[in-house]
Amino acid sequence: MKFVVTAGPTREFIDPVRFLSNPSTGRMGFAVACAARAAGHEVTLIAGPVALKTPPGVRRVDVVSARDMLRAVRTVIARADVLVMTAAVADWRPARRAARKLKKAEMSDTLKLVRNPDILKTINRLVGSPRRGDRILVRIGFAAETGAPAAEAVRKCREKGLDLVVGNDVTSRGSGFGTTTNRVTFVTPDGHVQRLPLMSKFAVARRIVSFAEVATQRKGAGA
Ligand code: PMT
Repeated sequence: MKFVVTAGPTREFIDPVRFLSNPSTGRMGFAVACAARAAGHEVTLIAGPVALKTPPGVRRVDVVSARDMLRAVRTVIARADVLVMTAAVADWRPARRAARKLKKAEMSDTLKLVRNPDILKTINRLVGSPRRGDRILVRIGFAAETGAPAAEAVRKCREKGLDLVVGNDVTSRGSGFGTTTNRVTFVTPDGHVQRLPLMSKFAVARRIVSFAEVATQRKGAGA
């Protein structure tokens, strides 16, 4: 199967030396890419700015902003069977990006922001389009929450048309940004919630890959 995995943060530049971003290191996404490759799948890894080595056998595309990431996903999605969005995509970007470094005196105390496109929702509009034909696309998203993630994950699962949302409480010890472990909750659109214990990100990734394999077969069989 062909996996497309996104990882890491995006950066939304104010000027050449200042940007808005978040603490994602890419570890979760790189673990998914590694696990999918180890299971024999073809993997394209679309990575925001991170300091990780490309897993062997994985094709990597580096991006910076949310709009770059959307363009990269759109380029490869027509041939994909599974999309796993672990990336922490910035929801907002500065309304204007200055071409040169702004002097403090030129900057205002408030920054005007505009919404970034939602990558999953944009891809949903392509699924079932002539570009993809009858190809099945299993869509898996993450939900980074500060607090019990299940309720919010169910909402995101339905709103973003996903087959699985992996909820993680980014304030829980050993879980979320930058850790080598994660404590996640699997939520499916029928409202089924499965809480997994704290485990390595690679072990979480293996569970995600297994879910995708089963979901692809089930959807392919029209169940
Ligand atoms: O990289 P690490 O340091 O290992 O950290 C891992 C992680 C905490 C970043 C990861 O486990 C995680 O939770 N990733 C999703 C973070 C996030 O942005 O969640 P969200 O609730 O804002 O977004 C929900 C889903 O929509 C995500 O799959 C996201 O990729 C996607 N999204 C978000 C915004 C946007 N404009 N387009 C999207 O497609």
